[in-house]
Amino acid sequence: MRVTMDAIAHGQRKQTFFDRWAPRYDWLLPSVFYQAVHQRLCEESRLPEGAHVLDLGCGTGKLLNRLAQQDPTLTGVGLDFSAAMLAEAQRKTVDRDRLTFVSGTTDQLPFAPNTFDAAFCTISFLHYPDPVAVLRAVATVLKPEGCFYLADYVPSKWTEQRFWDAPVSSASVQVYPKQARERLAAEAGLRCDRHVYLLGPIMLTVFAKVAPES
Ligand SMILES: C[S@@+](CC[C@H](N)C(=O)[O-])C[C@H]1O[C@@H](n2cnc3c(N)ncnc32)[C@H](O)[C@@H]1O
Repeated sequence: MRVTMDAIAHGQRKQTFFDRWAPRYDWLLPSVFYQAVHQRLCEESRLPEGAHVLDLGCGTGKLLNRLAQQDPTLTGVGLDFSAAMLAEAQRKTVDRDRLTFVSGTTDQLPFAPNTFDAAFCTISFLHYPDPVAVLRAVATVLKPEGCFYLADYVPSKWTEQRFWDAPVSSASVQVYPKQARERLAAEAGLRCDRHVYLLGPIMLTVFAKVAPES
């Protein structure tokens, strides 16, 4: 894909938006809602003992900390492109032996193939300019039996463009209904196993890796 100056400038604007939000992120209203989404997501996820998991667009690390609290055998990595979000995640994480946080963009994951038992992504996918590239990158780093848990907005009156054009948003977002998630998955070598409404307009889609034909 040709990376235009516009795309780079746009990515930098988003990074700046999240850097500014980071110090207040955990106590502003959307995040209280997102933490309730995390709780519902944990109820829906099935992980093997000793699971090694990835959180894409991890923000302040709340989801990983919740997962680690529930399962003392779990280890995890959070990835985000906002330095300020990562600094908050590092500062707030109690068990630094089990949880680490790295800087990166979600379409170029700095991990070896077949590394993770599961990957998560909550309220971050809507910001990605190239969703198929992200799904392909996730498919590569998941183990053959691994699952990808994507929780994000679906189209509704709250996700109409005029809502995202408000000054509180980082704008230029894209939300995907069930059918679009299934189409993107097929392009990326993943399969949609189920869709579940978690809370309000947030839908979880669980993806599995498609086994290569022998
Ligand atoms: C609304 S926050 C959600 C954070 C967290 N997942 C949660 O549930 O609270 C979106 C996060 O995605 C990150 N993000 C957005 N686009 C990204 C990209 N292309 N690569 C890496 N991180 C990204 C932002 O920096 C921000 O931390």
